[in-house]
Amino acid sequence: MIDRITVDKIIDAANIVDVVSDFVTLKRAGANYKGLCPFHDDRTPSFMVSPAKNYCKCFACGKGGNPVGFIMEHEQLSYPDALRWLAKKYGITIEEREQTEEEKANHTERESLFIANEWANKWFQEQMYETPDGKAIGLAYFRGRGFRDDIIKKFQLGYCPSGRDKCTQAALKAGYKEQYLISTPDEDGIAHGVGISIKHEDGKIFDRFSGRVMFPIFTISGKVVGFGGRVLDTATKGVNVKYQNSPESIIYHKKNELYGLFQAKQAIVKQDCCYMVEGYTDVMAMHQNGVENVVASSGTALTHEQIRLLHRFTSNIVVLYDGDAAGIKASQRGIDMLLREGMNVKLMLLPDGKDPDEFGREHTAQEFQAYMENNQVDFIKFKTDLLLKESQGDPIKLSRLVNNIVQSIAVIPDEITRTFYIRETAQMMQMQERLITDAVSKQVKINIEEWRKEREREGKRQQMHQQGATNPSEQAAANQQSSSALPDDFPPPPELLDGGGDTPQNSTVNPSYSGNPYHQQPAEGIAVKRDKNTQEAKETLIVQMVVRHGETIVCNVQDDEGKDIPLSVAEYVYYVLQEDQLTLTNPMHQRMLNEAINHAHDDGFKAERFFLNHPDQGVCSLAFELASDKEELSKVHDNQQKMNPQEKTNQLMDQVNHLLIDLKLCIVEKQKKELMLQMRDPEVLKDKERCRELIAQFQQIKEVENALAKACGDRVFMH
Ligand code: CTP
Ligand code: MN
Repeated sequence: MIDRITVDKIIDAANIVDVVSDFVTLKRAGANYKGLCPFHDDRTPSFMVSPAKNYCKCFACGKGGNPVGFIMEHEQLSYPDALRWLAKKYGITIEEREQTEEEKANHTERESLFIANEWANKWFQEQMYETPDGKAIGLAYFRGRGFRDDIIKKFQLGYCPSGRDKCTQAALKAGYKEQYLISTPDEDGIAHGVGISIKHEDGKIFDRFSGRVMFPIFTISGKVVGFGGRVLDTATKGVNVKYQNSPESIIYHKKNELYGLFQAKQAIVKQDCCYMVEGYTDVMAMHQNGVENVVASSGTALTHEQIRLLHRFTSNIVVLYDGDAAGIKASQRGIDMLLREGMNVKLMLLPDGKDPDEFGREHTAQEFQAYMENNQVDFIKFKTDLLLKESQGDPIKLSRLVNNIVQSIAVIPDEITRTFYIRETAQMMQMQERLITDAVSKQVKINIEEWRKEREREGKRQQMHQQGATNPSEQAAANQQSSSALPDDFPPPPELLDGGGDTPQNSTVNPSYSGNPYHQQPAEGIAVKRDKNTQEAKETLIVQMVVRHGETIVCNVQDDEGKDIPLSVAEYVYYVLQEDQLTLTNPMHQRMLNEAINHAHDDGFKAERFFLNHPDQGVCSLAFELASDKEELSKVHDNQQKMNPQEKTNQLMDQVNHLLIDLKLCIVEKQKKELMLQMRDPEVLKDKERCRELIAQFQQIKEVENALAKACGDRVFMH
């Protein structure tokens, strides 16, 4: 449990721009900041951060929140754990008693896996620094490869002692349940444990990383998602896999992680550029040579997810390849993927097919950095240099080269950038610019067509899915069709992103990020234009008043002893509704009104701040929408500048009254309709008594309506 005072301290300290900047590079946009949304496949900055409201929100997918909500969503944490996360960031100590067993069990499963990994990471380091074997084998290995101690520490490298199950036993002894250590997949093939242990069919448990040096893999916020374990050169007996990685689990998906991003983040933002290398040791070697803006794709082909992750921090990437021809050709797809995401891609080769690790060992940091700076070329030059050599004037090979470059240019989202590269290609190849422009345009059209077809197929697949198509062969056919045409991650071509209406961004949002119900309806209020005449819409306007001005005193009422009691907007609304025994139909609205009443007399209560920092992220989200939607009252705001406080209060009171009357009129209207329906019922018509009753009721309602209309008219008349 975190006490209220500490919670307030954390909320006060947490600055939304600061918090979001840990995960996305933000650029100023007027009074706000903007960046690429971390929650959906964003190509144009849709993520808005408001320092004034201390709140963020994506205008494409709707996700966001206050600092706590943002961390809950992004790090997939519970409310208290998100508070702890922020407390740590801001150096706020939380006095907590030992957690009870029940509280421990309430950690989410994901959290349990992270905790297990954190333990393992610490244990591997203890083993390396504090045991004779660790020092003589593990640490000696890294030092032997030329890594300095500060770099070994920076990447939290460790050592898993050889033996059958030392690590597993230590984990069990430390209280970690076997289910979190092993990685037996469930029926859906997802492992719910971190997999530092392997359970064989005979029930025996083994250490996965026995006898290996360990590279922990961090999320952007520095949590351990998995490990890479490298076999020692001396221990080849029976071991043929150089790197053994943590298995995929609910927290670790290799395709989503970029090794080194956590350590590189700040440097990437500062330099607005990032180097991409292949392996763990390459990243370390770059750091050791003073280049800290570097990440590794970890051997595999670059994925769409990895690019997106990086793109949040910069649009400029320099890809560093080991340099053998095969590797370069294989990387073709990687280059196109980067271009397609709107990244500016440069490439470089290290001499003699060396990797950064080897190259770094042979050069001083200065030489190393100078080489990095002087040898990057854009992808056109990279390809032409490479392929021109190969083609040696052979016209067929040359035209293939041009085609190859045209294909790459055609995937670039930005037209100006395309034009720029077309010009460069024409110069390099000594060709007419027109020819290349035409070829690129043609290819762009083909891409759009392919993308359309893919969308259609995707649509069909979803339809089938929604209809609960259980026919496996149909499903398989649909899936196969798509995978044969385009890669899974084939994104829409740029031309279709700009048009309004059904933009692919809106329809490709993945709404199922978590079980939190407020994520299920993220786009509400943005995409859906509300009907202003419904009762709910009228309620919303009243709640909006409560959020914006809830604490403002607007009038006095007299208590039984004739004493004046000041009423705030929230209290006044509550009081007026109570008089007519009305409640708000939307439970969320009623709940917010109730809470505003309950806290109305808290010290320094401000409704907007209260709701924007509410523990329930659904409340925060609604409050943000209501607090931000300036459209409704913009005219009033203009006038307010010139008014004195009394006039302002009067006007506020006036608005509140007007909204309340509007709501009541709406309710009355509804009751009238219901009565009329009843009166048309032939059964009712036969019953004289009932008829009279209904007519009386109707009269009453009419009277109320007239009174309301008059009140409304008076108000209008007064001005
Ligand atoms: N890799 C991996 N799993 C493997 C093989 C490779 O995750 N089975 C990743 C690692 O991130 C590794 C990178 O691919 O760092 C590059 O692999 P490789 O070139 O074989 O290793 P190096 O990093 O060069 O390692 P070393 O210098 O220690 O041989
Ligand atoms: Mn290497």
